[in-house]
Amino acid sequence: MKKTDREVVITGNWKMYKTIEEATGCIKELIPLIEHASATVYLAVPFTAIQASVEAAKGSSIVIGAQNMHDAMEGAFTGEIAGKMLTEAGARFVILGHSERRRIFNETNEIVNHKVLRAIKEGLQPVLCVGETKEEREHQQTQATIKQQLDECLAGVTAEDATRLIVAYEPVWAIGTSDAASPEIAEETQGFCRQCLAELFGKQTANKIVIQYGGSVTPENAQEYLQCKEIDGLLVGGASLSAKKFSQIINSVKG
Ligand code: PGA
Repeated sequence: MKKTDREVVITGNWKMYKTIEEATGCIKELIPLIEHASATVYLAVPFTAIQASVEAAKGSSIVIGAQNMHDAMEGAFTGEIAGKMLTEAGARFVILGHSERRRIFNETNEIVNHKVLRAIKEGLQPVLCVGETKEEREHQQTQATIKQQLDECLAGVTAEDATRLIVAYEPVWAIGTSDAASPEIAEETQGFCRQCLAELFGKQTANKIVIQYGGSVTPENAQEYLQCKEIDGLLVGGASLSAKKFSQIINSVKG
């Protein structure tokens, strides 16, 4: 049973895994397994695999996207990729502000904000990741951290553009650790995210924004999250690399 009017979106984040051959093979394996799925399925694939993945997903409802982009339209930025290059390759969305980008590649809220604005300009749907570290949670800084991330990363975004946004709540301590947040923690924090979004864009707009949970989601725990009112979908890393496991997660969404 659907809890709200919001779409349920399950996103796979393949990170730096899968060659073109592996990516297309996995998509072909996944398609028949999710034939009757009621969730919308997004796959964030490596840059090199975008075009071939779009081709492999043709005729299915899988939406292909990217995991990062530069905030400039184009320029002398060796090794970087522009939004318009992603859309040309067929990407429809882009993950921005993932904690691995923030932690390993020093992306600040300001940088993420520029990327969000550029993505919107280029017609790419931003999937904005927010989440607190273990230390921040232990020091009761979760809400302050998340509010600051949302305020700063979404500065200058209009309410109209915000309706197309996806926010992914990913507690940093839960990513790739098997230490998934409890559904209670996820529900409570995502309720808080929606409150912050309401302050930024108004209640009506905030109620339209899909908020996903991410961090050690597995076929075993997916259902528990999806039963929560504030959890409109999942952002899945490790478990999305296996077509079988990812399909089990997708199929745990009841229509
Ligand atoms: P995980 O990763 O599911 O492997 O914890 C989630 C993510 O990084 O988006």
